[in-house]
Amino acid sequence: MCEKCDYLLLGKQMGLFHNTVILFLLICGVSLTVFLSLLFDSTTFPLPKLQKPLPVADNELFPTSMELLDLPHFQYIINNDVCLSTTTIFAILIITSHAGDIEARSAVRRAYPADELKRLGIYRVFLLAVSNPKHDIRYNSVSQNALVDENRRYSDLVQGNFNEAYRNLTYKHMMGLQWVTMYCQQAQYVIKIDDDIVVDLYRLLSIMNSIVRDQRPLLMGYLLKGIRPIREHASKWFVTQSEFPGPTYPPFLSGWLYITTPKDSKTLVEASKTVRYFWIDDTYVTGLLAQVVGISHQDIHQYFTLHPEYLECCIQDEIHLCDYIVGPSGGDHVLLLNFQRHAVSCQERKCLQRSSHRALNRTCVAKRKISSLRQGHGEVKPVRIF
Ligand SMILES: *[C@@H]1O[C@H](CO)[C@@H](O)[C@H](O)[C@H]1NC(C)=O
Ligand SMILES: *[C@@H]1O[C@H](CO)[C@@H](O)[C@H](O)[C@H]1NC(C)=O
Repeated sequence: MCEKCDYLLLGKQMGLFHNTVILFLLICGVSLTVFLSLLFDSTTFPLPKLQKPLPVADNELFPTSMELLDLPHFQYIINNDVCLSTTTIFAILIITSHAGDIEARSAVRRAYPADELKRLGIYRVFLLAVSNPKHDIRYNSVSQNALVDENRRYSDLVQGNFNEAYRNLTYKHMMGLQWVTMYCQQAQYVIKIDDDIVVDLYRLLSIMNSIVRDQRPLLMGYLLKGIRPIREHASKWFVTQSEFPGPTYPPFLSGWLYITTPKDSKTLVEASKTVRYFWIDDTYVTGLLAQVVGISHQDIHQYFTLHPEYLECCIQDEIHLCDYIVGPSGGDHVLLLNFQRHAVSCQERKCLQRSSHRALNRTCVAKRKISSLRQGHGEVKPVRIF
């Protein structure tokens, strides 16, 4: 984490030699100057132009030889030191987002402004890949320049040099965990979330504050058990025997939102060097990798809803807390904003807990939204849960 510390340590150990070395360099310098002034007329001697050294961070932010799973030439195209200059960080929020989905990121930034996050000790990056307008018909084509502009404004993008594709989501997810291990070790927690997920951060934080931290690793979220691979060829989510041979996946957490730590992220990144790529990202990371290193899960599914309609019902009710603190926005950016507004107001006014006979699953009557089953990786989760 601290390369400079190594230098400092080395410097201390070298203390004995220190003076000798300085003296030696001094002598060398003087003799070199004398030698050069004999060679050149001192008036024409070309003084080397002082090159302003790059800030350390700039070198560190774009390392050239990195691996990511089986991608041998992985590099960051856009990167930011959101954590480097900060020592106390409660949580780093890593948000998977499609490069072309500028709208979704903009909604997330409006719902959860960076200043408000900072007040809570939370920092944020969006994880992107490279958009190919020919393939990403779902999104208005986004140029790389537009992303560079977006990043100039918000300094919160992390973009890897692989293509946007749902079969590449595992790269993106692992890029996030690898990024945390490289640049945000000082955070107490890591929150992995998708950009179309609605969350009451205040209540999530209070859950996190109640986590008993011992030496055990942490993977907390919506636990999915006994989920079978989809074997129907017609499905977009068809998984071949060679991709995953077993009848059921190991237990894993929904990638909508889960909580871990930088230390455990590092463990998972290490494990990814030994486990073959599997394209369903949450199954791979929180299932296959977690199984290999023996990390067990903490289940908080009671706080999750699969239905954006319930969240709609929540925001109509000014008096009560929502029954849920995490759910899908169904691509509805207004819901994202309004849910957060509701959460803020409940935070200020101390909303009441809803009694069980008023539970949303009994009282909420809303038009069912088709949009929650829109294209994209969000689609797979409700299918898998039921
Ligand atoms: C995933 O990214 C790699 C590297 O950019 C690319 O070669 C590959 O085609 C992408 N996969 C899909 C399914 O598009
Ligand atoms: C409705 O939700 C409550 C918790 O909010 C739960 O205890 C109950 O089992 C749910 N009922 C149904 C029918 O799903």
